[in-house]
Amino acid sequence: MTTRHKTQVAIIGGGPSGLLLSQLLNLAGIDTLILERSSREHVLSRIRAGVLESGTVKMLRQAGVYERMAQHGIPHNGCYLTDNDLMVHINFKELTGKQVLVFGQTEVTADLYAAQDAMGTEIVHGVTDVLINDLDQTRSTVEYSVEGTRKSIECRYVAGCDGFHGVSRNTIPADVRQEYERIYPFGWLGVLSQTPPANDELIYANSERGFALASMRNENLSRYYIQVPMTDKVDEWSDERFWAALKQRLPSATAESMMTGPSIEKSIAPLRSFATEPLRWGNLFLVGDAAHIVPPTGAKGLNLAVSDVFYLHGALIDAVKNNSKTGIDAYSDRALARIWKSMRFSWQMTTMLHRFDDEDSFAGQMRRATLSHLEKSETARRDLAENYVGLPY
Ligand code: APR
Ligand code: PHB
Repeated sequence: MTTRHKTQVAIIGGGPSGLLLSQLLNLAGIDTLILERSSREHVLSRIRAGVLESGTVKMLRQAGVYERMAQHGIPHNGCYLTDNDLMVHINFKELTGKQVLVFGQTEVTADLYAAQDAMGTEIVHGVTDVLINDLDQTRSTVEYSVEGTRKSIECRYVAGCDGFHGVSRNTIPADVRQEYERIYPFGWLGVLSQTPPANDELIYANSERGFALASMRNENLSRYYIQVPMTDKVDEWSDERFWAALKQRLPSATAESMMTGPSIEKSIAPLRSFATEPLRWGNLFLVGDAAHIVPPTGAKGLNLAVSDVFYLHGALIDAVKNNSKTGIDAYSDRALARIWKSMRFSWQMTTMLHRFDDEDSFAGQMRRATLSHLEKSETARRDLAENYVGLPY
């Protein structure tokens, strides 16, 4: 039996994009309903990057999600880019006047769920077979199944916040979509360990053995990554092997002083750059990972999702409340202009810091020269800092 619901904006996907958009729309008095494929426990078990741009912090504060972020987030005024023992400090604060906040995406997502619960928003978990229809009509429908029942929601707009593997993007006809993709020939092996961070600030390390990143969650929880071939399997990487490989890639002083311990999470993730255009098809809008993927070098994934939400929430409020279509008509172009710049930065950071298998002898020299140029040129460091702390909306 089909039951029918109505809402103003149907949101597919209960990750950070969908939750933040929903929260901001609800605060403006707009009714939403979220459909999420997985359980809440599963969504909150995914470990993702943890660097928030100042614009992201501002948006989360606007959404009323601030207390735990202010209490537990660690403000960072800079980071290091290293090449063996060369350590180039990028002082964000001095170069741009801004800082970033280190606070795990999983925590942000948990806080957004709590805020949505307090708002009383309906979030349906465990949905399958989502079908989006009538996108060219005044009212569209979203059909889905949950616990063996087929249901349907009638809505004014649909936000496709269902990540890279969702259904929203593929609802846009293939001949309308233009997709751009680069798959990098390596992955990141990530480890979480209950040890103090190796350094006060993040270290992005280039070395002849490949890339490494020393990051953190709090004063006794560290997050590390090393570049590995995509053919590697997690069980081939014992903790001992991981720590040894990481230390070979970090500056020797850091490697010698850092604490290691048992891993509490270990996984391998692929690196990809992907974007689709346009982000709007009739009443459907793509947001976050549904529209674009960046490699994690530079931590732009969540921040880009938040800037999409920035453009879209204002546009949807204007469309629903004032019947003004200017904002939604401009959404795709406005969001994409910023997306492409973050795509470029993430690609540049990835290329500058990773070793490519089939590279020629020239490539390593280019990476080293880029690092030594950064060491000597404040202009180059400012450019990197400006991108890292987040371009203006
Ligand atoms: N129906 C309903 N929900 C779906 C479907 C579907 N067909 N397909 C996927 N989903 C859900 C996923 O289970 C996931 O919880 O959509 C959600 C998408 O969340 P994310 O993948 O986290 O994407 P997004 O919310 O855009 O977050 C931006 O920033 O750091 C990056 O990739 C990182 O998740 C992060 C992203
Ligand atoms: C992380 O802490 O998980 C992290 C930090 C910075 C990145 C990527 C990941 O660029």
